[in-house]
Amino acid sequence: CGIVGYVGSKSALDVVVEGLARLEYRGYDSSGVAILSDGAVVTAKRAGKLGNLRKALEEEPTPEGTVGMGHTRWATHGAPTDHNAHPHLDCTGKVAVIHNGIIENFAALRAELTERGHTLASDTDTEVVAHLLEEELRVTPALAEAMRRVCRRLEGAFTLVAVNADDPDVVVGARRNSPLVVGVGEGENFLASDVAAFIAHTRDAIELGQDQVVELRREGVTVTDFDGKPAEVREYHVDWDVTAAEKGGYEYFMLKEIAEQPRAVANTLLGRIGTDGRLTLDEMRISDEQLREIDKIIIVACGTAYHAGLIAKYAIEHWAGLPCEVELASEFRYRDPILTRTTLVIAISQSGETMDTLMAVRHAREQHARVLSICNVNGSTIPRECDGVLYTHAGPEVGVAATKTFLTQLVAVYLIALYLAQVRGTKWGDEVFAMVQLLATMPEKVERVLETMEPVRELARSLANERCVLFLGRHVGYPVALEGALKLKELAYMHAEGFAAGELKHGPIALIEEGLPVVVVVPPRARAVLHDKIVSNIQEIRARGARTIVIAEEGDESVVPYSDTVIRVPAVPTLLQPLVATVPLQVFSCELASAKGHDVDQPRNLAKSVTVE
Ligand code: G6P
Repeated sequence: CGIVGYVGSKSALDVVVEGLARLEYRGYDSSGVAILSDGAVVTAKRAGKLGNLRKALEEEPTPEGTVGMGHTRWATHGAPTDHNAHPHLDCTGKVAVIHNGIIENFAALRAELTERGHTLASDTDTEVVAHLLEEELRVTPALAEAMRRVCRRLEGAFTLVAVNADDPDVVVGARRNSPLVVGVGEGENFLASDVAAFIAHTRDAIELGQDQVVELRREGVTVTDFDGKPAEVREYHVDWDVTAAEKGGYEYFMLKEIAEQPRAVANTLLGRIGTDGRLTLDEMRISDEQLREIDKIIIVACGTAYHAGLIAKYAIEHWAGLPCEVELASEFRYRDPILTRTTLVIAISQSGETMDTLMAVRHAREQHARVLSICNVNGSTIPRECDGVLYTHAGPEVGVAATKTFLTQLVAVYLIALYLAQVRGTKWGDEVFAMVQLLATMPEKVERVLETMEPVRELARSLANERCVLFLGRHVGYPVALEGALKLKELAYMHAEGFAAGELKHGPIALIEEGLPVVVVVPPRARAVLHDKIVSNIQEIRARGARTIVIAEEGDESVVPYSDTVIRVPAVPTLLQPLVATVPLQVFSCELASAKGHDVDQPRNLAKSVTVE
C-alpha cells in the first residue's frame, strides 16, 4: 500500500493526490484521502485506480485544508470496495486512520470494541485502530500519545497514519516493519511510504526505524519509540530527483526502465572495478577476513529477485567455489535451515521492504548467520537490518514488473561472486580477471540488444491471441526462462511456464501441440555440451508441432533450421548471458500485454512492494 501525509501551507489535497499518483505502483485496488477542513475530517475514497478517486473529487466539492493524508490500497482484509477503502473513521467521525500491513490480533480487538459499544462499519483491520484511538483520546488529548498507546496493543506488521479533527495541525504516523519516511521541508513536512511521494517538494528525508511514532507539524517533526522515549533517527539526502520518477516521454514506465538498462548496469559497476582490474566492494561492510571464513551461501528472495538468486548460484559455485543454495524467502524460515556463523545469507530485494524477505533475514540473523543484502532502495528496511549491503543504484523503478532492477541485481551477484573469488583466491587469475573486464562491456552489449528489438515487438503483437507460451533454458538460461514466463504472467495474464530444457521430456513435453509458441534460450556455442543438447531439445519440440522462438547468440547458425523465429543477442560467456538474453523477454511481454490493451505499469492484483507475508 502507499501512504502520504502532509502538514504545511499548500493545498493538502493537491499534495496528497500527487503523492499518491507517484505511489500508485504500491497498490491500486482502491484509494482515499482525509483532509482536515474547518474543524472536521473530510474523506473521499473509491475502489479501483486513483483515477476513480480523482473523478469523484472533481464531481464533489473539494475540501480545503493544509493538513491531510491519503492511501492507495493493495487489499488484504476485505474486498477492494469503496466501503473498505481507507481512510477509516471512529464513531465520532473525528479520527481518521490509514494503514499498510496486517494487524494480526484485529479479530480479538474488534470483538472487545463491539462489546464496549462501538459499531464498526467495514471488514478491515484498519478500522479497529480508529476506534482504539477514539478510546485513547478520551484518556489523553495528544494524538501522538494516543497512537503510542494503541500501538502497544497491536500485533503484526503495520504502518499507520492518523489525523484528528480536534488537533488540526498534526499528522501522526507509526511504524512497525512496513516502511515510512519523513520528508523535511520548510514550513511543511511530509510522511510517505516512499520518498517518491514528496520528491517534487523536498529531497531531505528522515528514515523512521522499527517501532517508532512520528508527530508531524509545520514547524518540525518529533520521533519517539512506542513508549514515548525520543528516538534517534537518520537524516539523508535523496540522490535522484523528480525527473527520475517521471515517464519522460515514454508511454509506460516499464518502457522507460527497459531503455534505462545500459545506464543502470553501468551504475551498478561504477566505482567497483579498480584500474588494476581488481574489485573493491568496501561498502559491503563484511571484512575480507570474514568472507574467507564463509563455507556456505544461502540466497533468499522473492519473485524476480529470486530468479537473480538462481543465477547467482551458478556464478558463486563456479567462480567462488562455495556451495550455494537458493530459497524462496517465504519458505525459508518455515523449515529448519542449517545456519552457522560461517554461513553467508544473501537477501536480494529491489525494494528492501518485501516482508517475506525481511522475515527470512531476521530468521537468519537469529541463527547468527552473516547476512548481506543486494538492494536498490537506499536506507530501506532490509539493508538496515543486514550486516552489509551492496546497492544496485538502478534509480527508482516504478513499473510493477521488475526490469532494470533485475539486470542490476545480476551485476551485483556477479560482483559478489567474483569478489569472493578474488578474496578467497579461488579461480582468481585469468578467468576472473577476464570476467571483470567483460562485465565492464555489458552496458554497451545491453544497448545493442535494445537497438534490435523491433522484430521482437512485431512477434509479440502477432502472439497477442495465444493462450499459452512456454519458455525453455538450460544452466543460467533456465532462470532466464522462468523470468520470461513470470513477466508474461504478470503483464499479459497468460499462462506461461518456464522449464529446464532437460526436464521437458520428463513431463512438460505432453503440453506441446501444433502451433504452441515455445521460447528457447540457447547457451553460447562455446559451451558445446549445453549448446548441442538444447539444439536437440528444439528439434524434439518442433517435431511435435511447437512454434519455436529461439534466442541465440550472433553467428550461431546451427539453430536456424529448427527455428520459426531467431532473436539475436551478442555473444558473451554463458554465465553473463542472462544480462543480454533477458532483455528481449522483457520487451516481448511488455509489447504483448500492451497489444492486449493491459495497463503495463499496473498489472491487475499485483503490487510492486509486498509488505505483508
Ligand atoms: C513483488 C513484485 C515483484 C518482485 C517481488 C520481490 O511481488 O511484484 O516484481 O520481484 O515483489 O520484490 P523485491 O522488492 O523484494 O525485489
